Amino acid sequence: MPDTAMPATPGPEPDVVDLLLTQHAQIEELFLLVTGGEGDIRRDAFGDLVRMLAVHETAEEEVIHPLSRTLPGGNDDMIDERLDEEREAKETLKTLIEAGIDADGFDEGVLLLRKSVLEHARHEERYEFPRLRQHVPPDRLRLLAGAVRAAEAAAPTRPHPGAESATANAVAGVPLAVIDRIRDAVRGAPGTKKKES
Ligand SMILES: [Fe+2]
Ligand SMILES: [Fe+2]
Repeated sequence: MPDTAMPATPGPEPDVVDLLLTQHAQIEELFLLVTGGEGDIRRDAFGDLVRMLAVHETAEEEVIHPLSRTLPGGNDDMIDERLDEEREAKETLKTLIEAGIDADGFDEGVLLLRKSVLEHARHEERYEFPRLRQHVPPDRLRLLAGAVRAAEAAAPTRPHPGAESATANAVAGVPLAVIDRIRDAVRGAPGTKKKES
């Protein structure tokens, strides 16, 4: 949850910040399942985590950070720092995916990734999201929630448990083509402006 108080969202419909905050909480829960779970639970949680990070960070990179750059007060350094954090996390994640969940050092790698991803999320919650709520009209923020939903819809989900035991392996690494699909979906969502990206 955010470290600083943000104005409440008017109306019942969640805006893009609400959805991103929910995803931060889901990412934190998935890390707990990966670090504390065993067997299929751990494996499935890692697959879900990889998918969620792809959806979440792609939506932020395509919509949220570019929008933040346009806000008053000059945010470029802050946004560059967020992008650097996202890049670093992606590198670590790629190494973990390539090594595989049973590799030596996987657990230590996940703990490092967890620390950097959660710190990154806290930075967004503290420095970036409040500025969006402060400077972007609520209607626009609600419209942009569609970009996060589009990203979610574009990423394949794991079939329900019991369908096939090998399916978790198929989502353990999100292929580049899927990232492209998520990005296209986000770019095509209502309220996004190509010029800002
Ligand atoms: Fe992010
Ligand atoms: Fe985030």
